[in-house]
Amino acid sequence: MLRALRLLLFWLWAFTQAGYAQTVTEEGEYILRIGGCVACHTDIDNDGAYLAGGVAFDTPFGTFYSPNITPDKNHGIGGWTKEQFTDALTKGEGPGGIHYYPVFPFTAYSGTKAEDIDALFAYLRTAPAVSQPNRAHDVPWYLQFRIVNKVWKFLFFEPKATPADRGEYLVKTLGHCDECHTPRGWFGTLDYDLHLTGTEEGPDGEPVPNITPDRETGIGRWGMSELKRYFRNGMLPDRDFVGGLMAEVIDEGLKYLRPEDSEAIAKYLKGLEPVSTKE
Ligand code: HEC
Ligand code: HEC
Repeated sequence: MLRALRLLLFWLWAFTQAGYAQTVTEEGEYILRIGGCVACHTDIDNDGAYLAGGVAFDTPFGTFYSPNITPDKNHGIGGWTKEQFTDALTKGEGPGGIHYYPVFPFTAYSGTKAEDIDALFAYLRTAPAVSQPNRAHDVPWYLQFRIVNKVWKFLFFEPKATPADRGEYLVKTLGHCDECHTPRGWFGTLDYDLHLTGTEEGPDGEPVPNITPDRETGIGRWGMSELKRYFRNGMLPDRDFVGGLMAEVIDEGLKYLRPEDSEAIAKYLKGLEPVSTKE
């Protein structure tokens, strides 16, 4: 009964929201939202400060914590140059030649357009500085040497091209949808041959659905407007609501999509080769 009531209230709320897309005007802030940077760098569950980091990521390789990306000079990235910021996003390389773990999806961001990086950097400069120290990753000793990331990159990382199609760019590059919706092989590498076909083992151990347009196992039965509504308020075609990690992806990011970008993503997904994941 209570659940039904809650669902009804949520449904009503979402219904009233449906007409009002959330908007951010500044380009850098928009990219930060669509890129999912806010969700990963703000410890929402523990009321953490905006972009101050500290979000825990449990992976089969250990627990990683996102760093502070506010413009604080000591604990954030206030002292960074634009070149250093660009290298972090596109090469997974930090100041002083440190190599990032791929839990930071620089593998996807490597194809980010220079003008988008400029906008991000400019916006991050203006965000409130928060003096919060970074938390050390909790990983086995042999992974604490960042040289392993250099080796990993040498073996598996190839900077991605920038897709010309807007929808493809938003999905593969900024939205890094593959990070969750594409299965992984050994060493945590994504199996791009199975692009967006879902996985039994998502980042939090929960399954992530197939979002190719297969009619049975994917989103083949969803209409364009249903997809766009989902990105705006998380409502599924059967009027149920999004859960799990996708709820945060929408709430901290996709609900800000401009109508033309939402359309571009939906079009791109609907245009993919349908792949059935039925055994
Ligand atoms: C899936 C979660 C996730 C997403 C999405 C993400 N990050 Fe991160 N980011 C991390 C983690 C974890 C690290 C730390 C990696 C390490 O220590 O090797 C990191 C590191 C960084 C660093 C390096 C900071 C430092 O102090 O060395 C910067 C800069 C950064 N991210 C910016 C961004 C921006 C900008 C975006 C969006 C375009 C973004 N991140 C999206 C998780 C994420
Ligand atoms: C952090 C992981 C994560 C990221 C990143 C992510 N997703 Fe999802 N997505 C999920 C999970 C988990 C679900 C299942 C949600 C649920 O159980 O309600 C899901 C569900 C969906 C669904 C609904 C499918 C269905 O059959 O219910 C669509 C559509 C979707 N995602 C599109 C996208 C797009 C487009 C992107 C990139 C812009 C994206 N997702 C990025 C984890 C993610």
